[in-house]
Amino acid sequence: MEFRPIRPDEVPVWRQFQEYCFHTEPADFDPWMASKFQIEHTRSLFTDGGQMAAACANYPWQLHFEGARLGMGAIASVASLPENRRGGHVGRMMQHLIIEMKERGIPLSALYPFHQGFYRRYGWDVACTWIDHEIPVELLGHLRKYSGVIDRHLPGQADWREIAPVYQRWAASRRGYVARETEHHWRTAVYATLPGRNWHTAVYRPAAGAAPEGYLLYRFANDAPRKLQVRELVALNPAADRALWGFIANHDSQVKFVKLRQARTWPLWHLVDHTYDVKSTMESGWMLRLIDLKAAIEARPWPGAPNGSLVIGVTDEQAPWNAGTWRLEFENGRAAVNLAPAETPSLSASVQTWAQWYAGFVRPDQAVATGRLSGTDARSLALLAGATAGEEMFFFEFF
Ligand SMILES: CC(C)(COP(=O)(O)OP(=O)(O)OC[C@H]1O[C@@H](n2cnc3c(N)ncnc32)[C@H](O)[C@@H]1OP(=O)(O)O)[C@@H](O)C(=O)NCCC(=O)NCCS
Repeated sequence: MEFRPIRPDEVPVWRQFQEYCFHTEPADFDPWMASKFQIEHTRSLFTDGGQMAAACANYPWQLHFEGARLGMGAIASVASLPENRRGGHVGRMMQHLIIEMKERGIPLSALYPFHQGFYRRYGWDVACTWIDHEIPVELLGHLRKYSGVIDRHLPGQADWREIAPVYQRWAASRRGYVARETEHHWRTAVYATLPGRNWHTAVYRPAAGAAPEGYLLYRFANDAPRKLQVRELVALNPAADRALWGFIANHDSQVKFVKLRQARTWPLWHLVDHTYDVKSTMESGWMLRLIDLKAAIEARPWPGAPNGSLVIGVTDEQAPWNAGTWRLEFENGRAAVNLAPAETPSLSASVQTWAQWYAGFVRPDQAVATGRLSGTDARSLALLAGATAGEEMFFFEFF
């Protein structure tokens, strides 16, 4: 079987996979094809007879990690046709993707699963959870007066260059946010082009003519009761945060609720003085895979990690280069990872569990308590916990 990007004459077949498998009418899919589709990021598996057996896309994005950038393969549009399902084609395609990313020097990969168990078997695991908050807008009444200036743009009328520097400053020092550099990325992965999916933009400046210090992407959900859905609220300082919430609060005549998706650690308490009236629902988000464990750990800084070293065991059936015994040495905020076959690991886990640790999604003591991490060495556990203490990985993009 052959695994490769599709050729121009194969676009209609790849597109049929998408339309059928994701129940999209051709007319609804046209804008996606016109704006988002990039043939070089498609991948398909072909039978020996040349038939397309499985299809997907893999976007070579980069993630911010506290000043560093790490490659992340964002896998999407995974599909096979029902007449050929459960023949192992998609499983084989996932294995090709893993090998290709390793060869291209992409240390991480993320995807949104239709079913977590399906991708877990290929080494991805849930590494992000978020909370969908539904806040009655009247709870925000005390925020209606604010200082500064908000410039508002209707869907399709914002210039991404106005808010890109705000996002860049905000995301660069954080963990896991997607680096957004091209107009194509802003147009297709931030401002989606599907009908009804575009976003209003509100830009905060401390004074007219000053540089922007925050922004909001939002839209109205006109089902009853009416809601204002916030996709991104990015504020460089408390004044920007305060003003953007003030702007939201002034929609009390138009909507009853504000919907907002945030990382689970986001503090709601600074906004409303009685949170019982806010409906907050926790959901699992994207899954992460360490494509290249050594590169993924060495490439990012670990500013909170205490100096010290430990020996870990890793199992990984699809990426044998990750499997084995490794010595991790943290020194002055950097990590060195080297195979140590003669040593005995103090802590051992599957590559899925190591991805969850890497994202800050599961603490080492939780992984031990749930039987996902074996070993009890307190010094090693403390070192791992110190390394990922702080912010969990998070990003806004859906793909
Ligand atoms: C999900 C989908 C891609 C699976 O394709 P497939 O060709 O059946 O995949 P494979 O045959 O390679 O399956 C690999 C393994 O997963 C299992 N599997 C297949 N479909 C599954 C499902 N719906 N739920 C759980 N496991 C599943 C297979 O049995 C196989 O297991 P095995 O290796 O033990 O035999 C396909 O059903 C599809 O296109 N669905 C619609 C679009 C979609 O949801 N895509 C995923 C987006 S994240």
